[in-house]
Amino acid sequence: MSEDRFVSPVADGEEKVIEAALRPKRLDEFVGQARVREQLSLVLHSALRRGRPPDHLLMSGPPGLGKTTLAMIISGELGMPLRISSGPAIERAGDLAAVLSTLSEGEVLFLDEIHRMARPAEEMLYVAMEDFRVDVVVGKGPGATAIPLDIAPFTLVGATTRAGLLPAPLRDRFGFVAHMDFYEPADLERIIERSARLLNVRMDEAGGAEIAKRSRGTPRIANRLLRRVRDYAEVRADGFITEQIAQDALSLYEVDAEGLDRLDRGVLDALMRKFGGGPVGLSTLAVAVGEEPETVEVVAEPFLVRKGLIARTPRGRIATPAAWRYLGITPPLSVEGTLFEVTEE
Ligand SMILES: Nc1ncnc2c1ncn2[C@@H]1O[C@H](COP(=O)(O)OP(=O)(O)OP(=O)(O)O)[C@@H](O)[C@H]1O
Ligand SMILES: [Mg+2]
Repeated sequence: MSEDRFVSPVADGEEKVIEAALRPKRLDEFVGQARVREQLSLVLHSALRRGRPPDHLLMSGPPGLGKTTLAMIISGELGMPLRISSGPAIERAGDLAAVLSTLSEGEVLFLDEIHRMARPAEEMLYVAMEDFRVDVVVGKGPGATAIPLDIAPFTLVGATTRAGLLPAPLRDRFGFVAHMDFYEPADLERIIERSARLLNVRMDEAGGAEIAKRSRGTPRIANRLLRRVRDYAEVRADGFITEQIAQDALSLYEVDAEGLDRLDRGVLDALMRKFGGGPVGLSTLAVAVGEEPETVEVVAEPFLVRKGLIARTPRGRIATPAAWRYLGITPPLSVEGTLFEVTEE
């Protein structure tokens, strides 16, 4: 991820501290994602009524939409402690066994980036999720034996930006999958208002609405833009955020009126100018913009697809007519015909 991605949906360093302060703690403070919120509320409340840990839960969606936030809320709503680990931290089955065998009854285990866990650990997790048991292998070679060890019933909360990479047996062991989608501007406005209150930022409604509109449907970006616009308002004005101030600040930071940032525009630009609108494969496109394929796929694409600017087809990515209009380029005649063969994955 390049450092200069001002609207990068990925949080780093200092930002994590601020995020923790802005994170809603209860389900009813969590703005937007109405369907996920209602489904989750049912799952949690029925578990509480039965006095049993709920099914394992999977949070799936692009970065910055609130997966970690929901995991923390789940532990809060259940009144159970939260243990946090992540796929990349679990390199061997033994790492997972160490975590699982020390869970207390009803504890919530949050595994972030669960799609990046080592394969042998994944297999251990299947058994643990279903039978609350781990098989600890003692010794090596022909003399090795597996000793079954009971573990306390727990609730696994997995998070992933790439649900498609999860093996089916793992996906199937989740009783509920929360599909997180980009937020509507109205929801982002409420999130920005709430954050402004918590950060003591003064702002009028139109100022908040302008930031919401340019936040790429992502709460993390909304909170970040709010802080940058606040900086601008403090230095260039009296600290009060109006629509004009928000517009001036955000164009200074190269966030356009639709919330597209440099990577988004770079992907569109390459797709149209270098590849005549496509179809072009993901890795070719990634090389053209100087990013990792995963960054293009996880960070830029979902939003561009959501905006109807690009489409994924079996033969590769293509620019839609809206994309040509967006960049103000006339499409070459040869692509006109291919634009309508769009099939969603
Ligand atoms: N529904 C929401 N209401 C209010 N604030 C939210 C909401 N969702 C997310 N946020 C804010 O956005 C920030 C990012 O959310 P979070 O860390 O949960 O995203 P994530 O989906 O886990 O991202 P990643 O994939 O990068 O781990 C949090 O600090 C939180 O304050
Ligand atoms: Mg997270």
